[in-house]
Amino acid sequence: MQEAERLTKLPTYVFALLDKLKADERKKGKELIDLTIGSPNHLPPKEVVDTLKKAVDNPKNSRYSSFEGSPELRSAIIEWCKRRYNISIDKNEIVELLGSKEGLVHFSFAYLNEGDTLLVPQPAYPAHFRGPILAGAEPVVLPTVEHNGFLPDLDVIDKSIADKAKMLIVSYPTNPTGATAPKEFYEKAIRFAKKHDLILISDFAYAELYFEGKQPISCLSLHGAKDVCIEFHSMSKTFGMAGWRSGFAVGNAKLIESLRKIKTNLDYGPFGAVVAASTTALRIKDKYLEEMRAGYQKRRDIMVDGLNSLGWKVKKPMATFYIWIPVPSGFNAMSFVEHLLHKAGVVVSPGIGFGELGEGSVRLALVDTDDKIKEAISRMKKAGIKYNE
Ligand SMILES: Cc1ncc(COP(=O)(O)O)c(C=O)c1O
Repeated sequence: MQEAERLTKLPTYVFALLDKLKADERKKGKELIDLTIGSPNHLPPKEVVDTLKKAVDNPKNSRYSSFEGSPELRSAIIEWCKRRYNISIDKNEIVELLGSKEGLVHFSFAYLNEGDTLLVPQPAYPAHFRGPILAGAEPVVLPTVEHNGFLPDLDVIDKSIADKAKMLIVSYPTNPTGATAPKEFYEKAIRFAKKHDLILISDFAYAELYFEGKQPISCLSLHGAKDVCIEFHSMSKTFGMAGWRSGFAVGNAKLIESLRKIKTNLDYGPFGAVVAASTTALRIKDKYLEEMRAGYQKRRDIMVDGLNSLGWKVKKPMATFYIWIPVPSGFNAMSFVEHLLHKAGVVVSPGIGFGELGEGSVRLALVDTDDKIKEAISRMKKAGIKYNE
């Protein structure tokens, strides 16, 4: 049985390798502190869970959802986007998703042909390059580095490469680095997209996971963005609903329509009970979000202070629940992950999972309790793990 070429073209999925390493350690009876996958452990608001429970009892929700989407959810999305990000959209500029990953990957199938190219900053959330590869396209890597704030330098991209490409992806706050983008960067990206006739994809999954009151801005909220931009939003990180699979895309009506066209051939939209719960979530009081952010900020401080006590010189990221750190000398990303796992029972993600330019770093996801984060640091100290350049 010969797998389709699109599958063989994908780079190795290092997280599958990691799963095996974790399973082997657990078989030996080791209790691991798992900081690999960015699966938030804060609970959804109680009202949201109650809405879901009630909606499950409604027989209407056991039938297929409507292709037209839910007018209530659309209204809640319109209000939320205006209130939280000053984005103005109408109901034709929204498509509900089974999580933003689903939408991001399927968007590639709506716009990329075999052999097309697109511009993708790296290190990156894997779906940003794996989705286009599945669609037959070839990502052109835009390197990002810490001293440039992990922003790609759009000025150095060769004109012929920019003209040939079909899309540019931007995603701030960024997984895996925690970087945020200033307004000027987005303004430049919008100008660049228009000049080179590119679709501008903004992945805004971490829009609400920010610290010290510095709210990230939405690319789509800026002047002229809607001419070229589609922005992906996720309920997962904001409301602790990662397993529920709910998100939405907003933006240019033609781009939204094409994504919907692809999706009508693949799914029937989110489960009605999840739609009802998502509607409740988007109308929740800001207090829930403030408490959620305060919780992750506390963990960020514990982890960064702890790592710095072991020799790292990590700056506190202003958003996301990720800490991106260089590996000590003598290691590469994967060998340091294995070292940490075997010596301290702490599991983190190797940077190469986020593209080749992630080599030399690892990502720690703050998705366990404060006590477990403290324990991870003390286990590392006890195992003699420290940073040396
Ligand atoms: C940058 C980024 N975009 C999108 C997603 C996918 O989120 P969702 O759960 O909405 O599919 C993730 C998940 O980790 C992410 O890190």
